Amino acid sequence: MKKILLIGACGQIGTELVIELRKRFGAQCVIAADVHDMENNQFLGGEYTKLDVLNKEQVSSYVIKNKITEVYLLAALLSATAEKNPDFAWKLNMEGLFTILDLAKEGYLKKIFWPSSIAVFGPTTPKDLTPQYTIMEPSTVYGISKQAGERWCEYYFNNFGVDVRSIRYPGLISYTSLPGGGTTDYAVDIFYHAKKEGKYTSFLSENTKLPMMFMEDAIRATIELMEAPIENIKIRSSYNLGGISFTPKTLSEEIKKHISEFEITYNQDFRQKIADSWPNSIDDSFAKNDWNWREQFTLEKMVSEMLRHVDISKI
Ligand code: SER
Repeated sequence: MKKILLIGACGQIGTELVIELRKRFGAQCVIAADVHDMENNQFLGGEYTKLDVLNKEQVSSYVIKNKITEVYLLAALLSATAEKNPDFAWKLNMEGLFTILDLAKEGYLKKIFWPSSIAVFGPTTPKDLTPQYTIMEPSTVYGISKQAGERWCEYYFNNFGVDVRSIRYPGLISYTSLPGGGTTDYAVDIFYHAKKEGKYTSFLSENTKLPMMFMEDAIRATIELMEAPIENIKIRSSYNLGGISFTPKTLSEEIKKHISEFEITYNQDFRQKIADSWPNSIDDSFAKNDWNWREQFTLEKMVSEMLRHVDISKI
């Protein structure tokens, strides 16, 4: 029987993935885990367990005792937060991965999902339609940890047969839970401020083009990758995923179609440098060929969904 443990369940991806996995496989098959205490150990209509991914002993004995078959390991520090706390970011982003990879190597897990990011690319990477295989010289702590993680995933597959699957997520746009500490967060914040105040100050410059994706597409991609037949998964580092590429200016123009008085201003901070080192757009033809990936959300569709759903009482 499938028994999924999702570590980092309270984060931006985690909350939505828990909901969708429970819909697909039944609430009893999906256990949510994070470092926070949760009343009655319940979260989003199912079981919750408090786990610290840095506590190898605790995570390993939980996985073994509860006969977990799959782990989605989402606990991480994102790019902007990681720059402020490099030691902890490296520790958190790498140690948890080894714990889970080792559990699979020892035969306790059948499958692992581990997220990578467009942050694996760097200033020397070709910027437009960045290929799957290309120069990768990440210049952020987060990017370095993701690139190293990718190498280890591939290594564990090649040497120990660990069925680990991964996606290089673009910036993710969602309304259920707020993003925490990424460089692409502006593309979520903007909707709350547009709806609440009719204006927004972007911390990235108007022409900074980055690959982004609406969460519904990202969740579907994740589950499709995990459910694809093993022989279709040819890449064990991490798959490029394209999504929609836009700049703060293009996004604000699309928002103006709904809120005509909306105004955007620009005041760049340290995140600009991170954004400048990342691609403008991504070539995801390997995901398309190997496991039939097709995105559904255009910029227009994503903007109207976001404006309809963001809850301004959250900010
Ligand atoms: N959205 C992430 C960030 O900005 C990239 O993976 O850090």
